[in-house]
Amino acid sequence: MSGLVHIRTYGCQMNVRDSEAAAALLESRGYRLTDVESEADILIVNTCSIRGKAEDKARGKLALMIFSKQERPGRIVGAIGCMVQRMGREVLKSVKGLDFALGPHRLARLPQVIEAVQAGEGPILDAGEVREEGPAMDGHLPGSPIAFVNILYGCDRRCAYCIVPDVRGREWSRPAFDVLEEVRRLVGAGVREVTLLGQSVMSYGRKNPVWPEGECSSSGFLEPLPRLLESVAKTGIARVRFTSGHPSGCSDELARIMGLTSEICEHLHMPVQSGSDRILERMRRGYGVEAYRQAAARLRTAMPDFALTTDVIVGFPGETDADFESTRAFMDEMRFDNAFIFKYSPRSGTPAAAWPDDVPVAEKVRRNKILLEDQDRRGMEIHGPLIGRELEVLAEGASLRNGSRWCGRTRTNKIVFFVNPGSLGVGDLARIRITKVLPQTLYGDWVA
Ligand code: SAH
Ligand code: SF4
Ligand code: F3S
Repeated sequence: MSGLVHIRTYGCQMNVRDSEAAAALLESRGYRLTDVESEADILIVNTCSIRGKAEDKARGKLALMIFSKQERPGRIVGAIGCMVQRMGREVLKSVKGLDFALGPHRLARLPQVIEAVQAGEGPILDAGEVREEGPAMDGHLPGSPIAFVNILYGCDRRCAYCIVPDVRGREWSRPAFDVLEEVRRLVGAGVREVTLLGQSVMSYGRKNPVWPEGECSSSGFLEPLPRLLESVAKTGIARVRFTSGHPSGCSDELARIMGLTSEICEHLHMPVQSGSDRILERMRRGYGVEAYRQAAARLRTAMPDFALTTDVIVGFPGETDADFESTRAFMDEMRFDNAFIFKYSPRSGTPAAAWPDDVPVAEKVRRNKILLEDQDRRGMEIHGPLIGRELEVLAEGASLRNGSRWCGRTRTNKIVFFVNPGSLGVGDLARIRITKVLPQTLYGDWVA
């Protein structure tokens, strides 16, 4: 079968990775991919359920795509991802006109489902909970110097507000040798940087064994994640990252391997969610402010230029002004390099959804705005001293808006824009002297 496919992705890096694997699978079966939605025969939306707004966006996009079928008979529109998993059969009622809907565990069936729809079947729903995986979902698209690699599926933490454990299922860690084989393949294809993915990535290897019994890391590491990082760093890859972090995993071994290994980037995204112990307890995050403080300190001691980024939820049920002020103060104390701020959104079926959503919307908006302003100020304070410094940037290519201006990221995961003198290629590690800074981006010149 064939056809021109366009995939629109919402949500986290796992969804980005799923979309890429799905695209690679379809391409291997004769489909072609396009970035141009209007020319596609098959339109797919990879959905996210993390907040109500994320689902609204996906539903809105799907409705427009379904409407466009009127001008293009034969066009197929499908939904994949977390919203399909959360809603099950309801998704077909909620988004009328869908040709198919596949949950995140069932994406390996995409080619056969599209074929069935093309043969006149439908609408087709598969929100099964058994992962259809294997080699079918290991594929990557060529061309990019950076890649995501799954190492841990699902999440067992069950934070009180979070839908992810419901839609992504129980925690399961991929065997280390499978991960290493995928990374080696990527290195062979020219990839320079990999990010190892898991919702709570530090749980890697905690629920199921990932290393052969009796084998020990060459430097004596016992914990599964530091051992994996050590091995991935030896594949020939230039840079290694992993996300998302949790304080429980910031062990001495982790800090040691990060400090010791030049390929492992000195950055971690470690969502704190709140700076109030009372709220952290109600969120069931499994740590308090002091444990987070110690985890961050351990990493900073091991890496002088370490960058820490975070997520925060404002307006969680019962969050008082005093709780909010604790969060503000803690964010200042932690000197976060960047922070994503979210307004609490009740997700049905989660424990927190049963509690009164008692912080008024206007107050959530106010708290959100204050934290963003704080972060802008902090961003400038942290970035100001970088002016004049030379930083290593992995050149990712021309920026979309301006072809001569290129972009890339520092080891600390900061976005840098620079003018390519013409000699730099995609995937090169360039030295860039910083000339101008903004709260979330840096600008600089290439240093020969
Ligand atoms: N697994 C990651 C988080 C994944 S979800 C971790 O726990 O580290 C990304 C972010 O969305 C979370 O860190 C949290 O800040 C936010 N989030 C999750 N559920 C939410 C909800 N119900 N309302 C608002 N924000 C939410
Ligand atoms: Fe959700 Fe908590 Fe798991 Fe993160 S760790 S995905 S917030 S349940
Ligand atoms: Fe969203 Fe699913 Fe990721 S709910 S945040 S796309 S795991």
